[in-house]
Amino acid sequence: MGTYVITGGASGIGAAIRQQLQTEGHSVLVVDIQEADIVANLATDQGRRGAIAAILDATTDGLAGFIACAGVGSHVPDRALITAVNYFGAVELVVGLRERLAQNRAAVLLVSSNSAPMPTNPDYVQALLAGDEQTACAVAGQMESQPAYSGSKQALTRWMRRNTRDYAAQGIRMNAIGPGYTRTPLSAAVEDDPTYGDAIKQFIDSIPMGRPGLPQDMADVASFLLGDKATFICGAMLFVDGGHDAMLRPEAF
Ligand SMILES: NC(=O)c1ccc[n+]([C@@H]2O[C@H](COP(=O)([O-])OP(=O)(O)OC[C@H]3O[C@@H](n4cnc5c(N)ncnc54)[C@H](O)[C@@H]3O)[C@@H](O)[C@H]2O)c1
Repeated sequence: MGTYVITGGASGIGAAIRQQLQTEGHSVLVVDIQEADIVANLATDQGRRGAIAAILDATTDGLAGFIACAGVGSHVPDRALITAVNYFGAVELVVGLRERLAQNRAAVLLVSSNSAPMPTNPDYVQALLAGDEQTACAVAGQMESQPAYSGSKQALTRWMRRNTRDYAAQGIRMNAIGPGYTRTPLSAAVEDDPTYGDAIKQFIDSIPMGRPGLPQDMADVASFLLGDKATFICGAMLFVDGGHDAMLRPEAF
């Protein structure tokens, strides 16, 4: 039994992962802007640095794994916020916790999205991967919310793939999941969006498995990927989306 740290563990998918890990007997520390063991605003540099310091303080006995789940959806009009939370709020914490993660050969799980492969602005993704938050936010400000959201998740997944080897060399096993449409407060807000709502409902109807995802679907996969049965899975992006990615991109894998 170990200690896991999860961002965004106060709600939706993160709350389900937290509960699943606790049910399995692990200790879980939640980092969130609300209802958390460590309250931090991961949209800001100061909030991220405070979160890293607090996590390091709280895990001197070791860290079994880190789950970056905090995120905001495409319904959020502020594209800079999407950029700051979804990409930098995840990547900067993994980087800041790297040595602590290496101490216990810990597992990292990034909560990406099955929208990550969708078309977006390549300049945006490049700015994210370069770690240039100012430029990324400026480019995002010129984009629609949906490609900003999917671009933030594409960059997050590519960052994981690019860094898989170096982190694995320290025993840190990084993977990502790409949830499809999953019923949570975030997705409910997207469904209610006057611009995207109708398109989203049609999108849900087209899920091959005939239903939207549930937070527990993600928690079950997270538990597997973080655990002992997945020790040779490293650098993988696992779509947990009822077949949607395969339907939309049948020739790609
Ligand atoms: N729900 C879906 O359909 C879906 C699909 C694909 C990917 N995802 C991803 O799954 C993750 C969880 O989403 P969810 O649907 O459970 O959403 P949610 O809104 O239920 O939970 C998101 C959590 O992130 C926290 N958070 C938001 N901004 C923050 C900030 N600035 N600092 C710290 N914490 C912050 C929120 O307080 C909340 O607890 C997100 O990264 C999201 O992009 C969700």
